[in-house]
Amino acid sequence: MSGSKGIRKFHRVVSMVFMATVVFTAVALTVNNSVIWVSYVPLLPLFVLMGTGVYMWFLPTLARRRARQA
Ligand code: HEM
Repeated sequence: MSGSKGIRKFHRVVSMVFMATVVFTAVALTVNNSVIWVSYVPLLPLFVLMGTGVYMWFLPTLARRRARQA
């Protein structure tokens, strides 16, 4: 359970980083001559959220499977 608690906390922290990058990108893109790659910056924390989120998604299934095997 402690492992899933840790991943939940990590997901929460990365979600805050993700929101900060969205705001940063929105502001950065309003500047004239802004480089286009800036718009891809939020994808980095979003991919991390996707990985940890999908893992948490399957936690109940994993717990059920472990309980059945025990
Ligand atoms: C990208 C795909 C994402 C997936 C697949 C995903 C999946 C999940 C799952 C399965 C949970 C646990 C729900 C539960 O059982 O209570 C969760 C919790 C959460 N997610 Fe995501 N999520 C994603 C993206 C995001 C984003 C973009 C944000 C916000 C910017 C976010 C913020 C949160 C927060 C704050 C929680 C609660 C964490 C806690 O309990 O402490 N997630 N997410």
